[in-house]
Amino acid sequence: MARHLITSALPYINGIKHLGNLVGSQLPADLFARYQRGRGNEVMFICATDEHGTPAELAAAKAGQDVASYCAELHEKQAEIAAGFGLSFDHFGRSSSEENKQLTQHFAGVLADKGLIREVSENQMYSNADGRYLPDRYIEGTCPNCGFDSARGDQCDNCTKQLDPVDLINPYSTISGSTDLEMRATKHLYLGQSQMKNQLNDWIDSKGDWPVLTTSIAKKWLNDGDGLQDRGITRDLDWGVPVKRGDQDWDGMEGKVFYVWFDAPIEYIACAQEWVAAGKGTDWERWWRTDKGADDVTYTQFMGKDNVPFHTLSFPSTILGSGEPWKLVDYIKSFNYLNYDGGQFSTSRGRGVFQDQALAILPADYWRWWLLSHAPESSDSEFTWENFQQSVNKDLADVLGNFVSRITKFCRSKFTEAVPEGGSFSDPEQALIDDLTTKVRAYEGFMEAKEVRKAAQELRSIWVAGNEYLQAAAPWSTFKTDPEQAAAQVRLGLNLIRLYAVLSAPFIPFTSAKMLEAMGASDDSWPGDVAEALNALPAGHAFAVPDVLFAKISDEQREEWQEKFSGTRD
Ligand code: MF3
Ligand code: ZN
Repeated sequence: MARHLITSALPYINGIKHLGNLVGSQLPADLFARYQRGRGNEVMFICATDEHGTPAELAAAKAGQDVASYCAELHEKQAEIAAGFGLSFDHFGRSSSEENKQLTQHFAGVLADKGLIREVSENQMYSNADGRYLPDRYIEGTCPNCGFDSARGDQCDNCTKQLDPVDLINPYSTISGSTDLEMRATKHLYLGQSQMKNQLNDWIDSKGDWPVLTTSIAKKWLNDGDGLQDRGITRDLDWGVPVKRGDQDWDGMEGKVFYVWFDAPIEYIACAQEWVAAGKGTDWERWWRTDKGADDVTYTQFMGKDNVPFHTLSFPSTILGSGEPWKLVDYIKSFNYLNYDGGQFSTSRGRGVFQDQALAILPADYWRWWLLSHAPESSDSEFTWENFQQSVNKDLADVLGNFVSRITKFCRSKFTEAVPEGGSFSDPEQALIDDLTTKVRAYEGFMEAKEVRKAAQELRSIWVAGNEYLQAAAPWSTFKTDPEQAAAQVRLGLNLIRLYAVLSAPFIPFTSAKMLEAMGASDDSWPGDVAEALNALPAGHAFAVPDVLFAKISDEQREEWQEKFSGTRD
């Protein structure tokens, strides 16, 4: 049994996320986790809210709440929505946990001992109007790299370059809008990433199977210009992990906290400790310590492209630099952006469909299917209501839903609500089995490779094959001349429903559960031999005709939603 550690990028706490956030990390991570569990492998699937830094402070201030209670509230909301989408985390933690605080301070101490953290006296942007320093998102301006005019102090969302607030052209305070800023001297800690450059470069070069999107971004920041730069890992903020060296105070660092991007990925590990603290497991080290059994773990991370520099360079610097036997990521799957109807989804501007709104209008599986089958893998992709309607109506309602309803209803009307007996399989059935065998093996290949769109296409073609068989076999005509033969055809059809439920579960888990329940199937094991899997439900096995699995989206509905979600939400 293989062991898979799977993490999804940790969503910022600062509000309810839109569909773009879902498809860029959590949803494909869930797809992979469910697939690996389905294959009988052992999985640890981790996610958490990313609660520190300026995003949290700014959002809490906007909501008129203190940061801690704001985070507690939003964590619950995000957890509820994640459950609504069927995200099957083994634990959904919080980066503000005690576990993460201690582990973050531990890493800082170890890195300092190794000479990888240095103290720097530097100038930081101070806002006279606001009476404070302006780290990260407290400051915006024009990106010196690409010219984007609302680049943030820590990163340009347009070109993904990691920035320092002092790099910005025409900077202004996002608190007051003031441009009355000055440089003031202050002391900060820097992580010596530049010393790790060759090691990181060799490590990335050894990952020939990683998506080009991942390696190209990593290579760019490793090699462009002056190469990989050291990064400031402390901030003048109130909210965050207090700067300490292990459990020792750090001279001159009083009142400062670690930069959110330093502690957030460490939460991947701390979250496993929270999982133990929550009583869900007993041994987190066998997932994370290579000296405690994690050397046979395969670790896969999922994230949007803006997160790639932090996961290919910064976090590995922390892990490798510590010299301790922590599990390093084996595969980084990254995604482009999902756009919304001709523009960008935007949390800060309230543009697009947000996760709670999506669940309020349609069940999770409709969204899961569309998002995953249109995952922005090789390029950005775009959500349009027309495309969504078409995909739901065709793939889910016409192909899968219709297949299930047709065969179960036909059986009920001509036989009984039990798998019919008699007849035997001949050439058309064997041809279908051969075809499905090829397709199922291809599907497995795409799932293993984390090729999300291709896997969706293959699954769809598996559904289509059943429909085409049914259309050609036409048990409703066969029945008139050869009821025995019709019985065999229907038996195969009913077994296909069970097989489809098993294969489709990673994509549409709620529907898959309904299908298994309707078929009275207790065996949901992954098909090895397809012919065998199509005999799982024997003659006489009782089933029920399920309710309509997918309702079609009408043109009126589509127009209504198009209109409703055309503006912005505040
Ligand atoms: N919160 C970040 C974002 O939404 C992702 C953090 S991933 C982490 O872009 F692992 F580093 F936490
Ligand atoms: Zn830029």
